[in-house]
Amino acid sequence: MTDKSTWRTLNDGNKIPPIGFGVFMMEPDECEKATTDALAAGYRLIDTANAYMNERAVGRAMRASGLDRSEIFLTTKIMPIDFGYEKTAAAIDSTLARLGTDYVDLLLLHIRFGDYLGAWRAMEEALDAGKVRSIGFSNFEEPQIRDIYEHARIMPAVDQIECHPYFQEHAIRAILAEKDVQVECYYPVGHGDARLFAEPALKDIAASHGKSVAQVILRWHVQEGFIPLPKSTNPEHIKANLDIFDFSLTDEEMSAIRALDTDRSYFADNLEGVTEEQHAAMFLNVEHPDYDAQK
Ligand SMILES: NC(=O)c1ccc[n+]([C@@H]2O[C@H](COP(=O)([O-])OP(=O)(O)OC[C@H]3O[C@@H](n4cnc5c(N)ncnc54)[C@H](OP(=O)(O)O)[C@@H]3O)[C@@H](O)[C@H]2O)c1
Repeated sequence: MTDKSTWRTLNDGNKIPPIGFGVFMMEPDECEKATTDALAAGYRLIDTANAYMNERAVGRAMRASGLDRSEIFLTTKIMPIDFGYEKTAAAIDSTLARLGTDYVDLLLLHIRFGDYLGAWRAMEEALDAGKVRSIGFSNFEEPQIRDIYEHARIMPAVDQIECHPYFQEHAIRAILAEKDVQVECYYPVGHGDARLFAEPALKDIAASHGKSVAQVILRWHVQEGFIPLPKSTNPEHIKANLDIFDFSLTDEEMSAIRALDTDRSYFADNLEGVTEEQHAAMFLNVEHPDYDAQK
């Protein structure tokens, strides 16, 4: 993904790589090594978050890579505990300090709770100030997306959602398409779900192309127009997950993968019986994490 002519154009005119590298649930040392491996393999989009507690490690790996800052598309995310105009403005400055950079390419609101409109205004001003190049959200439902559409001065460029063959998010995608918002996919290869890797339809397609199931799934994402963010700490997987640009899935194969949709989200499965209010409380009624305590 080192050739920028392969990057996509967002609705704000900025360019974004067609696949990224996610660093969720990685300890700082692990994250620094995996990010180093990913940048060496050719990934140019790195996806972290305040909540992952590894932004400093990402920053170290970026600097050690020797790559010019302009070659890397860096994403991070702000948690609801920092939403609100003033709190978000302060959180953006702390984030930049931890990452050791003077701008992020994409800043996302991590989940839909709290004063996300105030947070959005702070992100718009950070964009005006050059601290952020593109803005968006993650884990927003239709009411919050429409609220942003109605009140934003600067439209969202990206929505990061759970999306994989078992959960294809058609309804949210239709709302995003109204404003040409780019879909990024988390849990792109099923968050390690062995059942997905064992799907006969995927195994057949993989065998016919001489590729792995993971590669077929990632190729499906790219052909759907999504930006998948696979995570791996295994150097072989890191390389293999990028080796998806020398083959194409046929219309029939794309349809066979679309037919795997069960409309079941892993994320929602973990929240069975939890109300929206209880879910919000999990993010808002908590002590503020000491993000600066990370290695
Ligand atoms: N916005 C949000 O709320 C949110 C939530 C969750 C995640 N995310 C983002 O999305 C990224 C990806 O999510 P995720 O890590 O949970 O899910 P994922 O990328 O779908 O799954 C990662 C798992 O798949 C395995 N894997 C990766 N490539 C493989 C391959 N080629 N063959 C076999 N196994 C492979 C990894 O194991 P190995 O390490 O052994 O390869 C790991 O166990 C995160 O890192 C984060 O950046 C965002």
